[in-house]
Parts: sequence; structure tokens; C-alpha cells
Amino acid sequence: MSTPALLQPLTLRDLTLRNRLVVAPMCQYSVADGLVGDYHLVHLGRFALGGFGLVIVEATGVTAEGRISHGDVGLWSDEHIPGLARIADFLHAEGAAAGIQLSHAGNKASSRRPWDGGGPVTAENARPGEAPWPTVSASEVPVGPDWPTPHALTVEELAGIREAFVAAARRSLEAGFDVVELHGAHGYLLHQFLSPLTNRRTDAYGGSLEGRMRFPLEVAEAVRAVWPADKPLFVRVSAVDGSSDGITIEDTVVFARELRALGVDVVDVSGGGIGGGWDHPLGYGYQVPFAAQIRDGADIATMAVGLVVDPRQAEAIVAGGSADLVALARQAQDDPNFAVHAARELTGGSYDSYPVQAGPRLGSRETVLAKLGPWTGPDPVQVESPA
Ligand SMILES: Cc1cc2nc3c(=O)[nH]c(=O)nc-3n(C[C@H](O)[C@H](O)[C@H](O)COP(=O)(O)O)c2cc1C
Repeated sequence: MSTPALLQPLTLRDLTLRNRLVVAPMCQYSVADGLVGDYHLVHLGRFALGGFGLVIVEATGVTAEGRISHGDVGLWSDEHIPGLARIADFLHAEGAAAGIQLSHAGNKASSRRPWDGGGPVTAENARPGEAPWPTVSASEVPVGPDWPTPHALTVEELAGIREAFVAAARRSLEAGFDVVELHGAHGYLLHQFLSPLTNRRTDAYGGSLEGRMRFPLEVAEAVRAVWPADKPLFVRVSAVDGSSDGITIEDTVVFARELRALGVDVVDVSGGGIGGGWDHPLGYGYQVPFAAQIRDGADIATMAVGLVVDPRQAEAIVAGGSADLVALARQAQDDPNFAVHAARELTGGSYDSYPVQAGPRLGSRETVLAKLGPWTGPDPVQVESPA
């Protein structure tokens, strides 16, 4: 039996991923001052034990002001390096590659944690010691009616944010990461530049698609210059804005071509995040067609994400040539062992890809279970006397 496409290694520059399954970045809003500890080691480490090829740390603030919430992970100082290095080391020890998503939230910064109700932090709703802070964006366009108006960044301030991405990329290297992903999606700062819905600038950083792409491309170029040539760089995009009068897939193909020319290796193809709503088809694998269009149109590797829930679905995405990698967020939270389960399902029941501490014992139990047949209940004890 030939190896299923999903389980084949992928080499990007000098990094070889053991398979095509990736854990997508997932904000946990669970740290103070950006510093990760035991929670993140366990949360992310379980995905390495679960067989994923690449695990990407959540949106990580390149500045304190660029965090979505007070609970976000950060990498704006050297103090943030040791906690993240511990995670990268663990992922490596368990055979997974380590990625980190670098982000600036722009006008979506200073938000409440989702379980506190979401929306902007205000003096009235702030947790003790978690005051709101002023936000920035491409233009003075708030997230929505109840949100504060962000400050429109000056060209000098843009240079500062670009350098914060560069500094965070250097620290990612020091922490031992294999992949940096720039967050250019979901309505955060780089996307706020790309989208005509949030970018109303009249200088060189606005107007035409070329102008709107300028800042995100400058960030990608500057990060590529310090991120080693043997390590891949990913960029997450919103292939389309939620509303049909925003970014189009054709715009994103053009953007992806520019990214490729700058040495970006993978476009991680998500969608939406500005203005709310989704005027596009929605269902299982709904963003996969965008990944395929970008892969074809820009001749760049893509990562598909969004309502991928089944190993055979993930296999069909890679085998069918829509994407090179498949990322899971909620499905991975629900089943951190998704990748070893997928390997088992796609290779006829073998436990070979499980960690050595578990696989062989599960294999021998399988022999016993096969003899017993299923537990039928209701009695919890269902035994046979020795012959
Ligand atoms: C808890 C949670 C946190 C998320 N945080 C991030 C994030 O930090 N960065 C990002 O680009 N996307 C984030 N997302 C979006 C996911 O990466 C993913 O694109 C989306 O959930 C669709 O994939 P799924 O259907 O497998 O969940 C988050 C999603 C969830 C469920």
C-alpha cells in the first residue's frame, strides 16, 4: 500500500515535516505579560504527542500594544524567549516542527477575552489591572460601532512596527522555532492594510491593491531578510473579506505572487475577519477552493484550513492537489490525537505512528479486544471463565 499523501513528509527549505497535518494557531488568552508557562507547554505539547507534523503557536504580539487582549502570548522582549524555547524543545523531542505566528492586532487590540464577552476593553468592563490601551490601524476605521477609533499610523510609526516584527522573528529563531508565520488575516493589522474596507489612506500605503499590499510586503521582506535562508516563512491570509465588496480571491492571488517573489514559502489560506459576516459559501472545507486557486495562480505551496474534520477529507485535500498542508484548529482541540488517528485510519489500523510509550501497548490490547468483541453492557464486568 503506498503512503497516503497526507502522511508523506514535506520538505520546505531545510525543514522536513513528518506529515502534512498542522495545528493552526489558536489564541488561548491565558497568560500574563505575554509570558508562556506550563499551560502552553501542555496545550501545545499534546499535539506533538498526537502526531502532528507542525504545531504553530498562537498569534503572538510583536509589541505589547499589538496584542489582541491582556492574555495574549508576546515576543516583544527577550524575557519571552525561555518559555517559548521550552515549548519548541518539547515539540522537537516528540518529532514535530515548531512554528509561531507573529501578529499585530491593529484596531482589534485591547479586546476582552471571548469568555469575558469579547468587544473592546473599557474603563467600566476592564478586569482589575487590565486597563484599555489606544489602538492603531491603517486608517481611522473602528472595528465596529462600539469600538474606539484607532490612530492612523504615520509612515515613521510603520517603520517601528515593521522593526518589531523583525525583532520578534530574531527572538523566534533564538527560541528554536522552525517556522515563522506572519498573521496577515482575520482583520488584524496587516489585513487592515490589505483590505479596502479598512484602508482609506491616500499615501503610498493605500489606494490601489499595490498601495494596500505595500506595508504587508515590506514586513514580509524585512522578516525574510533576518529569518534564516534554511527556514521556511509562512504568511496567513484572508483569501477574501467576509463581505463581497472587500478583498477578492484575485487580489489575494496577486498578493501571493508578490509574497513568493520575496521568498515566502507557504500561504496559509484563511478568510474573513473584517466587518463581520461571510458572503461566501460555508461548509466543510469551505476555504479549500481558495487554497487551490492560490496554489495554482501564484505557484506557491498552500495550507488549507477551516472545517476540516475527517482524515479522509484531509487526505483528499492533499491528494487532490488543493493544498500541500492541512491545518486544524477546533478539530485538534477536540482530538489532540487527530494525526495519529488519521495515520491509523488511512493505513489500515496500524499503531506505528503513535508515540512508543503508547503504540505497542495499544497494539497488543487490540489483539485482546479482537478476541473479546465489543463491550455490550450494561454490566461493566463482562468476562469469560478460564476453560
Ligand atoms: C480557540 C481559537 C483560537 C484561534 N486563534 C487564532 C490565532 O491565534 N491566529 C489565527 O490566525 N487564527 C486563529 N484561530 C482560527 C483558526 O486558526 C482556524 O483558522 C479556524 O478556527 C478554522 O479552522 P477549524 O475549523 O479547524 O477550527 C483561532 C480559532 C480558535 C477556535
